[in-house]
Amino acid sequence: MSPLNIVILAAGKGTRMYSNKPKVLHALAGKPMVQHVLDCAQALQARNICVVYGHGGEAVPQAMAAYPAKFVVQEPQLGTGHAVQQAMPHLDDGSPTMVLYGDVPLIQLKTLQHMREAGDGLVLLTVNLTHPTGYGRIVRGAGGRVLSIVEEKDATPEQREIQEVNTGILLAPTQMLRSWLAKLRNNNSQSEYYLTDIVAMAVELGVAVHTVQAAHAWEVEGINSKQQLAVLERTWQLVEAQRLLASGVTLADPARIDVRGTLTCGRDVEIDVGCIFEGAVSLADDVRVGAYSIIRNASIAQGTQIAAYSHIDSSSVGANCHIGPYARLRPGSQIHDGAHIGNFVEIKNSAIGQGSKANHLSYIGDATVGSRVNIGAGTITCNYDGANKFRTVIEDDAFIGSDTQLVAPVRVGKGATIGAGSTITQNAPDGVLTLSRSKQVTVIGWRRPVKLKQVKDET
Ligand code: UD1
Ligand code: CA
Repeated sequence: MSPLNIVILAAGKGTRMYSNKPKVLHALAGKPMVQHVLDCAQALQARNICVVYGHGGEAVPQAMAAYPAKFVVQEPQLGTGHAVQQAMPHLDDGSPTMVLYGDVPLIQLKTLQHMREAGDGLVLLTVNLTHPTGYGRIVRGAGGRVLSIVEEKDATPEQREIQEVNTGILLAPTQMLRSWLAKLRNNNSQSEYYLTDIVAMAVELGVAVHTVQAAHAWEVEGINSKQQLAVLERTWQLVEAQRLLASGVTLADPARIDVRGTLTCGRDVEIDVGCIFEGAVSLADDVRVGAYSIIRNASIAQGTQIAAYSHIDSSSVGANCHIGPYARLRPGSQIHDGAHIGNFVEIKNSAIGQGSKANHLSYIGDATVGSRVNIGAGTITCNYDGANKFRTVIEDDAFIGSDTQLVAPVRVGKGATIGAGSTITQNAPDGVLTLSRSKQVTVIGWRRPVKLKQVKDET
């Protein structure tokens, strides 16, 4: 099959979003709407991708600069036919042209592939709606042949009864499209150049008009307001939840999970309510994720339990670890097999070796921690001197007493013990006790202060 030209219409102002941001940059499932469409276009292996954006929408090409697409401005906006016209100079006649919409974010690759397989000529993506108000209607004649699309505002009362509507998405032979667009007139109720008028032109020339139905209504839903965006977001999250359930994941409540990216799960994974997964997250077999945890760009190995309210960002967690509740793994944390990271423990850019434990109230930043290390409650790596960051190294089998400050750069040797309440500024040798603490004294005759008599303020 010859590669495609793809035109993505994204010039609409989005007035009903009441936002300074162009409509198509509002996010669904954590990704700008137009980016969903661009990803789908790329998956179709398009030869040319052309995004038509509107006046004031310069943020669109800026935000999508990483895509190999051409961005053309449509100004003024004189209708969908006029919008496609702006893209024509950038398209190859040798490949058919598909028209997609930046505010119809959930169109699926499969559906577009079905359109490609529908045959030569013009291919329209349609959907049947019980309440077709607002949409262009598909007008069919003898034998069910498509005759035209009539916009609601131009339709007769009989035509308004038609429930098969135009989604707007279509595929057309490029040379023909070029000549049809040149012939469009705006003599309609909205004085616009309607892309949909090319259907009657194709019929007149005897060009075959095929229709393909979208597999799901949500695929072709367009977004004009925050209400519609919120509804489609919930619809999509339920689709994701059903996909996870179908693959064997246990979800405490399929209505209370948010996947903003790709979540890959092994067997017997359990996810409690209110969890958010962002970017690329993988959970291996037997992983359990507690309620209200947020996991972004992370991999969690087999059998690990993440207790409630934990945050994990750009980190990896080994097998059979215990994380949380209330643990925070910031970017660059590698937690090795069997480690325990407990409540109110923050780890950043650090490796925690096998079987090591930091169970309570600690900050471990820019550190390399060996295996079987015990980090007592309240331990802090002082990694920052106000200008530069330095590393702390804690070797295997070390024991760090509670409330220790390790002032980096500093090293705690193999099997070393640090006495509780120490401020460690120099390397602590292997196998022995190091502590830095003033001697305990008892002061005989000391009295607690008593409250002074209050003098009334008269002013
Ligand atoms: C259009 C279709 C209608 C279809 C409906 C599906 C036409 C004439 N009508 O109607 O048959 O049922 O979509 O939602 O095509 N756009 C531009 N530039 C313009 C005008 C529109 O880029 O000058 C973009 C908009 O940003 C939007 C899309 O095209 O993404 C559709 O435009 P809209 O004005 O909403 O078309 P409808 O009247 O809803
Ligand atoms: Ca519309």
